[in-house]
Amino acid sequence: MKDLINILENELRQAFRAAGYDESYAKVVVSNRPDLCEYQCNGAMAAAKQYHKAPIMIAKDVLAALSERENTSECSVFDKAEAVNPGFINLDAAPAFLASHLNGMAEDPRCGIPQAEKPKKIILDYGGPNVAKPLHVGHLRSAIIGECLKRLGRALGNEVIGDVHLGDWGLQMGLLITEMQERHPDLPYFDDAFEGEYPAEAPFTISELEEMYPAASARSKEDEEYRARALEATHSLQEGKRGYHALWKKIVEVSVADLKKNYEKLDVHFDLWKSESDAQPYIPDMVKKLKEEGYAHYDQGALIVDVAEESDTKEIPPCIILKSDGASLYSTTDLATIVERRKLFNPDELIYLTDKRQEMHFIQVFRTARKAGIAAPDTVMRHLGFGTMNGKDGKPFKTREGGVMRLEYLIRDINEEMEKKILENRNVREEDARETAEIVGLAALKYGDLSNQASKDYIFDVEKFTSFEGNTGPYILYTIVRIKSILERYGKEHPDAADGTILPAAGAAEKKLMLAMTGFGDVLTGAFAELMPHRICQFIYELANAFNSFYHETKILTEEDPAKQASWIALLKLVKRIMEEGIEILGFGAPEHM
Ligand code: ARG
Repeated sequence: MKDLINILENELRQAFRAAGYDESYAKVVVSNRPDLCEYQCNGAMAAAKQYHKAPIMIAKDVLAALSERENTSECSVFDKAEAVNPGFINLDAAPAFLASHLNGMAEDPRCGIPQAEKPKKIILDYGGPNVAKPLHVGHLRSAIIGECLKRLGRALGNEVIGDVHLGDWGLQMGLLITEMQERHPDLPYFDDAFEGEYPAEAPFTISELEEMYPAASARSKEDEEYRARALEATHSLQEGKRGYHALWKKIVEVSVADLKKNYEKLDVHFDLWKSESDAQPYIPDMVKKLKEEGYAHYDQGALIVDVAEESDTKEIPPCIILKSDGASLYSTTDLATIVERRKLFNPDELIYLTDKRQEMHFIQVFRTARKAGIAAPDTVMRHLGFGTMNGKDGKPFKTREGGVMRLEYLIRDINEEMEKKILENRNVREEDARETAEIVGLAALKYGDLSNQASKDYIFDVEKFTSFEGNTGPYILYTIVRIKSILERYGKEHPDAADGTILPAAGAAEKKLMLAMTGFGDVLTGAFAELMPHRICQFIYELANAFNSFYHETKILTEEDPAKQASWIALLKLVKRIMEEGIEILGFGAPEHM
C-alpha cells in the first residue's frame, strides 16, 4: 500500500497542477516545526523563480486549488492547510483520514510496507570471516548490519541472497599448513608418496586451529625461513598439491562448523557459504581477457589496470591483478567472484559490507569490473564501509588484557549484565532469567550497533546498551512487552471481543502516535535506498516514545466506552505489529516478559 506521506504529496501535486504550476514542486516532508504543523511543502519558494511570482502568491493559489479538491472529495485528507510567509504551506492530516489509513495498514498483511514494483535480485556479501581465525568483534558489524540489510531488502519485496564469502585462500592457509607440519609431521597430508584415502575425521579440533594460527602468524614475522615455507605452502595449495588440498578441506570443514554455530547465536543466516577459493577457477580466463582486450598492462612486473578518472579529487592507484611473481591478490579474487556471481545469478545489484578501511579496494575493483565489462553494464555495485567498534577509551575494542575480543566472550559479557538487570527488575522468574537475558542481550548488542550510523565509529558500552532507558534495544523490547501485557489483560477480560476499528484520534498524544506509525513504510524504503539501518532504529525509538506518552495519559483498560476501548486495543495491536516487524528486520525478537 501507499505511504501516507505519498498520498499527501499526491494531493499537493494535483493542486499544483490545477493551479497551473509544475507538480514537481509539490514535495511534502514531515514538518521540522511540529509545534506549527505536521507536514509541510516548501515548493512555492522554489517555484517562485520559474514563475516570477512571490512565493506566498503561489502558495495561496495552490491552497485554493487544494480546498476545491477537498470540497469535492468524500474523505478530506487535510485538517489544516495554510500558507505562511514567505511561502510555506503548512499541513495537518485530518484525523478521520489518518484513522482510515491506519485501518488500511492493519488489514494489509505487509503492515503497510510497500512492495517493490520491480523486485531486484541482490547479492549481499557480508560476514566475510576468515577460516581458522576465530570470529572477533571486527566481524560483528559486518554480520549485524548485513543481516539487517538482507531482511530489509526482503521485507521490501526483493530477492536478496546473502553470501558469507569466506576467506579461505590466502597466506593464512599456508601458515596453518606449515604449522601443522611442524607439530604433526607424520600426518599423511605431508607424505608425498601417500596414495591412500586421507582420514575422514579431522585430526585436529577448532581450538587447536585457533591456537595454531596466531602462533604461526607470530613466528612468520620473526622467522624468515618459516615465512618462506608458508608462502611456498600457500603456492603449492593453490597449485592443487594433493595432500595440502585434502588438509585444507578439513581445516575449512572444521572452521565452517564452528562459524555456523557462532553466527547461529547471533541469529545471522547465510544463503550461500561460498568462499574466495570458489572464484579461483575463473581467474585464468578473466586475466586472459583483461590482457587481450587491452585493459591490463604490465608495470614493474605486475599486471595492473588503470582506474584513475579525470574527475577524481584524490589519487586512485591502479588495480593490481597479478603480482610480479604471478600470484593473485584480494582484488583478483573479488573480480573473479563478480564473474562467478554473474554466471550463476546474473544479479541486478551487488552490495558488499566491510570495514571502511577497504574503501579503496572496492573503488578499484568496481571500476575495473565496470571498465572491462566484468560486471554486466546495468549491475549496480555498492560498498558499505562501516566504522570501528571502539572501547570506552576510544580505541578499537580489546579485552581487558589487550587482546582481540572473541565474539563469544563479548556475547557472554552482555548476557551476564542483562541477566543481572532482569533479575533486579523482578518481572521474570529466576529460572527464566537466563533465557530472557539471551533474547534481550542479543537485542542490546544488535541495537547498540545498528542505532549508530554504519559509516561512523562507535563506542561499545555494555552499561549503556543494556539499559532499559534511552535509545536502546532493551527499552524497545520493554515497550513491546508492555503492549503485550495490556493486550493479554484485555483478552482475559473480553474473551469474545471482535477486532475493533481504529477511530479518529481523541487527543494530541494519540494523534502523535498515529502519525508516527504511518511513517513505517517510508522509513524502510529510505533506509534501504541509503543502506542506513540506523534510520529504522530512530523510527522505532520515536514510535516507542510516542506510544509511551499516549499510554501514560490514557486509561485503556478502565475505559468505559467500549467502542473507544476497542479502538485503542486495535491501535495497540498495530503498534505492536509495526514494532515487531521492525525488530525482526533489525534481527532480533521480543520475549513475553522482562
Ligand atoms: N575476509 C575479508 C576480511 O576479513 C572480508 C571479505 C569481504 N568480502 C569481499 N568480497 N571482499 O577482510
